[in-house]
Amino acid sequence: MEMTSTVVVPQDRALIDGKFVGSDSGATFPVTDPATGRVLAEVPQMGEAETRRAIEAAQAAQPAWAERTARDRSKILDRWAALLTEKSEELAVLLSAENGKPLSDSRAEVAYAIGFVDFFAAEARRVYGETIPAHRTDTRILVLKQPVGVVGAITPWNFPAAMVTRKSAPAIAAGCAVVLKPAEQTPLCALAIAELAVEAGVPAGVLNIVTGDDAAAPTIGGELCANPVVRQLTFTGSTEVGRILAAQCAPTVKRMTLELGGNAAFVVFEDADLDAAVEGAITAKFRHGGQSCVGANRFFVHDAVYEDFAHRFAERAAALRVAPYTDPDSNLGPLIDTQGFEKVRAHVADALAHGARLLAGGHALEGTFHEATVLADVTIDMLISHEETFGPVAGLFRFGTEAEVIDAVNNTEYGLASYFYTRDNSRAWRVGEAIEAGMIGVNTGFISVESVPFGGVKQSGMGREGSHHGIEEFLEMKYLALGGI
Ligand code: SIN
Repeated sequence: MEMTSTVVVPQDRALIDGKFVGSDSGATFPVTDPATGRVLAEVPQMGEAETRRAIEAAQAAQPAWAERTARDRSKILDRWAALLTEKSEELAVLLSAENGKPLSDSRAEVAYAIGFVDFFAAEARRVYGETIPAHRTDTRILVLKQPVGVVGAITPWNFPAAMVTRKSAPAIAAGCAVVLKPAEQTPLCALAIAELAVEAGVPAGVLNIVTGDDAAAPTIGGELCANPVVRQLTFTGSTEVGRILAAQCAPTVKRMTLELGGNAAFVVFEDADLDAAVEGAITAKFRHGGQSCVGANRFFVHDAVYEDFAHRFAERAAALRVAPYTDPDSNLGPLIDTQGFEKVRAHVADALAHGARLLAGGHALEGTFHEATVLADVTIDMLISHEETFGPVAGLFRFGTEAEVIDAVNNTEYGLASYFYTRDNSRAWRVGEAIEAGMIGVNTGFISVESVPFGGVKQSGMGREGSHHGIEEFLEMKYLALGGI
């Protein structure tokens, strides 16, 4: 597990009004490599005053940006996508260094991140209004789409590049200005991406990045929520924090896009193609080591294929290589921090204490690395059945009937994603319609791309990101009644 490469940190200052700056007090906080604990950079520890300045800069810059033609905004986003593409390998290395995911995962994430910039460069040109048949002969009705104004964005550590562009690219394309706070653990990708936005021609104040650690987060987030100039808050993170932000946004009646926690089910019916189901399960569970909101958390396998699926899946999981990103064959990196790591350990220990059968892995390794783990005979009294593990552990339940499994899948406050495998077309429709989730993979374990409406139902959030629907989050509708015609 030896580290060999060094990481070039391209940018370690925050971005306010087009300038890369430190904090008012000069204070910083360290960003570390989760595989080694090595400090990669010291980043400005900002608070309320810097956040307010960033909001003021965004407010000043936004009207002129909105007045530019859609073509102009689109071309700048195109340049941004081209620069990101040029630097994609450096960005992938930086991403792995601050987040820990294997280089193959980081390369895929950087491509995903660029996808949003590329996609919304095109969508900027397609913000169409409408005309509506009027109620009087002397009147005409027009519907305009206008940018919401200043947008606050808070992004997570688990996808430190893709979540930055999934939020900022559609907002900028729509003519908004953004103040973004990246996660404490992973601000470096956000800063590097922002540096390339400036180079591409995104004007001063249109994209601002404010940094701070966990202690500063409530102050920065508090200002983004409370400041009446911010008209839209977009957040990806836990349901717990989403509830707090929603309460803080209520007094100023802000629009919100919330992509919150999930407890995704992965169902294998008796008629499934088991080879495909095993491959899908590996992707749905172990992409970024299970540290994804759409990662499969509860596996439901039909009685008739339970042992067969369980053993094949366990065999594939056991072959995954757990190593730092500097090992080119790494499939699983470390958990992001000790808190995440302890949760994984607790879920495994609790399941084993309550009678689960260990089929693969089960062991904590050095630092916050943990083996890919498969547990059979999991039951609903175990922690793993009702809490999101957010780690490389798969717990397998048994089921007998379609009705029973639909009830079990829906028996959660969450509704982000789910997956199921069947070869029966009627069942695919029935179950696809019955599962309460915003996104469903049918015979696939991979659902994340820029062209789809990403988001959840129930307590997994509101609004959608990505696709042509994603830009609507940043647009207001206004109708004009033209009388006296
Ligand atoms: C997330 O886990 O928050 C995002 C996952 C994805 O976009 O696939």
